[in-house]
Amino acid sequence: AAQDAEAGQRAFNKCRACHQIGEGARNLVGPELNGLIGRHSGSVAGYSYSSANKNSGLVWDEATFAEYIKDPKAKIPGTKMIFAGIRSEKEIADLTAFLKQFGPD
Ligand code: HEM
Repeated sequence: AAQDAEAGQRAFNKCRACHQIGEGARNLVGPELNGLIGRHSGSVAGYSYSSANKNSGLVWDEATFAEYIKDPKAKIPGTKMIFAGIRSEKEIADLTAFLKQFGPD
């Protein structure tokens, strides 16, 4: 599916209560998401992860992120991220395109 970063920015509104991204992004309820694609799970300095997330051994690439965001607790049993998930493949692709715009600091 074609990725649409602008639509992804709108989809990211579902995440903003808990996550920041972009310049000056800080850890909130959840960790900041700069440079997510390519990052090891549980690796943001100064953020207090669940042991489930910290020890999942995942690297966030497009495939692992897509599986996770469909159903976080299925991908990482015991995660403290309380989020119902996104079912739409298109919305996930758009969200991924949005996230990829923000590299590591
Ligand atoms: C963790 C993405 C919505 C709270 C994470 C992680 C990702 C992520 C990729 C793992 C980060 C890492 O390993 O460094 C997203 C996206 C969202 C979303 C894209 C929207 C579609 C939310 C919402 C909340 C939330 C709405 C709060 C109600 C958390 C928390 C963690 C986390 C607490 C840490 C999990 C743990 O340590 O077990 N999120 N998230 N997220 N997220 Fe979200």
